[in-house]
Amino acid sequence: VGSFQSQGVFFLGAGSIGEAMISGMLASQLLTPQKITISNRKKPERLQMLHDRYGVCISQDKKSDIQRSDIVILAIKPFDIVAALREIAPAIDAHHLIISVVAGASTQVIEESLPVSVPVIRAMPNTSSIVQASATAISPGRWATPSSVAMAKELFAAMGICSVVDESLLPAVTGLSGTGPAYIYYIVEALLEAGLLCGLDKVTCQELLLQTVFGAGKMLQDTGRDPAELRRQVTSPRGTTMAAMDVLDQAGIKHVIIQAVQRATQRALEMAEEITYELNKQ
Ligand SMILES: NC(=O)c1ccc[n+]([C@@H]2O[C@H](COP(=O)([O-])OP(=O)(O)OC[C@H]3O[C@@H](n4cnc5c(N)ncnc54)[C@H](OP(=O)(O)O)[C@@H]3O)[C@@H](O)[C@H]2O)c1
Repeated sequence: VGSFQSQGVFFLGAGSIGEAMISGMLASQLLTPQKITISNRKKPERLQMLHDRYGVCISQDKKSDIQRSDIVILAIKPFDIVAALREIAPAIDAHHLIISVVAGASTQVIEESLPVSVPVIRAMPNTSSIVQASATAISPGRWATPSSVAMAKELFAAMGICSVVDESLLPAVTGLSGTGPAYIYYIVEALLEAGLLCGLDKVTCQELLLQTVFGAGKMLQDTGRDPAELRRQVTSPRGTTMAAMDVLDQAGIKHVIIQAVQRATQRALEMAEEITYELNKQ
């Protein structure tokens, strides 16, 4: 348990990312369930399920519950953000810290929708937050202070790791770690097919591959070595790894992966522009 001190955390939106954050905060004992209040728009049964599962409080009145909390987490879909901020704006004052996981909505859009100068921090977690292994990046808005950044960092560290980047780099984060789990799944998918083609059964393939991915990640993490160095260490002249790497190099796979990340980054930028355009119209 770190230095995390909060009067209460209010979730505006309690969908899949909201639940991942709640379970991370509780598992790491950052907060007790009594200090977490959840809200949504129209599905009371979802809130009841989260209450039964985690013991968190269901909001009875968003505005007064927000006034009692010091952290407000925006975990709603991008196109709902303007209406949602309009609804809660009267309850927000300068003592609040607003943390948004809403993809594509800039800190500026959020700041301009609120009546006071309040610290806003934008975050890009990835789907591994569900198993408390997210790679998250956060970006402070105009009014964020070092202590609000530290608080947000601690909160996201409860469900994985958390880095701080300039907001202009969030599309790149989205392309790299936001989309990142899918790159690894894609490679595992291909390896699985390869294992089957080479004669192994599916269960054995899955078992061996899961541990291979986990082990490679652990090697990178525990040794702190460069991936190229780790790869060189397992590549002996005329050996199997060298034969495999020759095939990958000849097909330009490294270049293709770089292009995929660049395209995802560009797509994140395009989506942010679409969202800003739509929000300005609302
Ligand atoms: N899932 C991920 O891994 C991930 C990763 C990074 C970023 N994100 C971002 O996180 C955000 C949420 O994603 P999600 O997958 O958790 O979405 P989700 O499952 O659809 O949940 C959205 C929630 O927002 C609620 N909501 C909408 N308007 C509201 C309002 N005015 N007041 C209170 N609650 C309101 C919805 O309530 P109702 O159901 O009652 O309408 C629902 O509970 C998105 O912007 C997404 O881009 C997600």
